[in-house]
Parts: sequence; C-alpha cells; structure tokens
Amino acid sequence: MDKVIGMKKYILGFILICSIITSYFLFVPKSVHTGYDTDVGQIMHVVTADMKHERTISWKTKKMGEPGYLEIRPKQSNNISRIDAEAVELPSPNGNQYALYTVHISHLTAGADYEYRISVGKRQSAWKNFRTESESTAFKAIVFGDSQAVDYAVWAKTAKAAWGNYGDAAFFINMGDLVDNGQDDSQWNAWVDGAASLLAAIPIAPVMGNHEAYSLDWKMAKPDYYLSLFALPENGPAGLKRHAYSFDYGDVHFSVLNTQQNELGEWYPDLLEQQKEWLEKDLAGSKKKWKVVLMHRGVWKNPFNGPLDGIGQTFVPVFDKYHVDLVFTAHVHSYARTKALKNGSPDPDGTIYITTGRSGEKVWDKSPRKPTDEFYYNPLDMPNYLLLEADSSSLKVAAFKQNGELFDQTEIKKTRLAPNF
Ligand SMILES: [Fe+2]
Repeated sequence: MDKVIGMKKYILGFILICSIITSYFLFVPKSVHTGYDTDVGQIMHVVTADMKHERTISWKTKKMGEPGYLEIRPKQSNNISRIDAEAVELPSPNGNQYALYTVHISHLTAGADYEYRISVGKRQSAWKNFRTESESTAFKAIVFGDSQAVDYAVWAKTAKAAWGNYGDAAFFINMGDLVDNGQDDSQWNAWVDGAASLLAAIPIAPVMGNHEAYSLDWKMAKPDYYLSLFALPENGPAGLKRHAYSFDYGDVHFSVLNTQQNELGEWYPDLLEQQKEWLEKDLAGSKKKWKVVLMHRGVWKNPFNGPLDGIGQTFVPVFDKYHVDLVFTAHVHSYARTKALKNGSPDPDGTIYITTGRSGEKVWDKSPRKPTDEFYYNPLDMPNYLLLEADSSSLKVAAFKQNGELFDQTEIKKTRLAPNF
C-alpha cells in the first residue's frame, strides 16, 4: 500500500513539474532583449546617404555562425518583409568573439512610421519603431562631444538627458573619441549600452577621433573596430571609405572628415590631401542650402597659438570657397563658438566653428579661449550636449549642460549662397 501511495506521489510530482515547464513556455514572454551576451542586443541605427528611403540597422551577439534577419512592416500593418542580415566577426584584440549583423533597408517611404524586430537563431527582439525623414526641411539633431571614459555611466547619463528632452531628434552625432581605447570591445559595449535607447530609434552619424586609432597597448593602430562597427555610407574618398562620408538631412549637407593624420599617417600618408580633393567634389556636388562639416580635431594648433595648423591649412580654404556655414569639432573637451571667420579671420560671410565640449567623464583644462571666440565655456563642472535645429531659413545651435541648463545659443541666417547654389 505504502508502495502504491509512493508511486502516486511520484506521478503527481512529475505531472506538477511538467505543468510548470509547459506554463513557462506558454506564458513567459520570449522577447526579453537586453545585453549582447545572452540575447539579441546592441541594436544600432546608422546614418545613410538617403535618410528618406534607406535605413541601416546592426546588432551584435557573442555567438558566431547563427543566421540573423530583420522583419519590417509599416506601422500597424501586417505586411511584413524579411531581410537576411550580413554577419561579420568584429576584430577583437581582447580575444573575444562578437558577430555583427547588419541590414541595409531601402525603398522606404519618406516621413513614414515603421516597426521592426530582429532575430538571431531562436532569439527574437520585440517590435521597435522608427520614422524616416519627411519632405519637410525642418529637423533637430543632437550633437555630443567626446564621450571617451573609463566609466561610461557619465556618457549614459548625458545621452539619456539629451534624449529625454529632445526625443523628437531625427538623428545624433558623436564627434569622435567615442571611446577611450578604440580596440577595446568592452568599452564599445559600454558605449552602445549607454546610448541604447537612442540607437534603437534614431541613426548615429559618428566621427572618427584619435582614440579610435590606438591599440590596446596605446600605440597607433588602424581603426579596424570603428570601421567594422559602423556600416557608414560608402561615398567617401577611394581607399578611405567610412573614414570620411557625407549625407543629407532636410536642406543640410553634412560632410564628415577624418583628421587623424598624426595617428594614421603610417598607413594613409595622404589622408588629409585625399580628403581635401574629395571634399571639394562633395561640396561642389551638393545643392543643399546649408553646408555643415563634422571633424574631430580643430583647425588651429592646440593649445591655441594663432596660426592654422596642417589640418586648417588643408581644409579652411575649401570651407571658405564653398561657404561652409558651420564646422563642428571636438578633441579639446571644451565648448567654444567663434565669430564667422574666413581664412581664420573675422568675416561676416565666413564660417562659424563650434568646439562641442564633452559628453563623457573626461575633462581637460588646457584649452584656452581663442581671440576669435564669441563664446567660451569649459564644462569642468558637468558634461554637455548640443541641439542643432535646421530649416530652410536658419541653422540654430543651442548648448546645454547635462542638467538641461542652456549656456549658449546662436542662429545662423543665410547671407550668401555657395557658388554652386
Ligand atoms: Fe581626441
């Protein structure tokens, strides 16, 4: 009898365990998606040359060899398209193995809302949203100075603060030195995690900084990780694709340059000259009303001592010739806005240069105010970010501390047009 009761208990226990397991698979959501190590994560939208009709989305996992794909549908539609992802192994000097999946989406409708989700193996993300560029010329973009850090919590706080206040931004720019060591994948993971809410919704336009071109032992290194991570428009100079590129948004043409001649001269001795030739054609070929250049290093010697340095001597004549309206730079971790300048001297028809400060934890107090600065502030107390607002009549730049306090703003009205306009 005792034996029969024992058998019944065993059977009831077995049924109970089976029920618990069945309930788990029936009722626990299968779309839990944070982190790159155990699930589908590190989702990143990357700027494209045509933001009305194209979108590039990538994501990262630790496991190689699994097929990945993206599904996309117009918002609240059942018309789902599936696009297989291209997977590559990221070059990790740390000895880790990361697979980067990338999908280029084309033939999108301008000004439309879409939903997408990504899958790798049997793992799948939740549906997420994005909106393509509309036909309007008005848009906002967030601009971040150097985010490099040991602790990326500071960068995460700045990114979240900017996104919390300007969740209607169309894309964001990071001005280079995104990370402190460009070959350290743990820093890249922390950087992406810090901006995860932005990266899953709006594209990033990254600029390469000198810290993207250092090896783990702090020697000069080709920026392999940066170039692999960001599937940027391939419209840069031959041999320097993704180092430099350009894109349009609204009535603004953005040209992005690589200023790392000091770090990369061994591999690219003509880095600046090649880009100068390309920039001339790039600017000459654009009919957009506004021209904005993004470059990590500035055009003067640092610390400032007067004359243009090699980077300035190379590019400033091109900025002047094609009436570039605004140049954003970084590197010195301070914020400075110059008067309109031509050939480095004040001229009402010239270019305004804005050094963008810092979004990460690193401060630097050895960057003095320049004589041509109309406004200067070194964000030693807390990080900062910028908001660029553009439409067909003006370019506005506002600079905020991490806590949202406005500390500078300027508006550029078009007083002259480029010779090719
Ligand atoms: Fe830098």
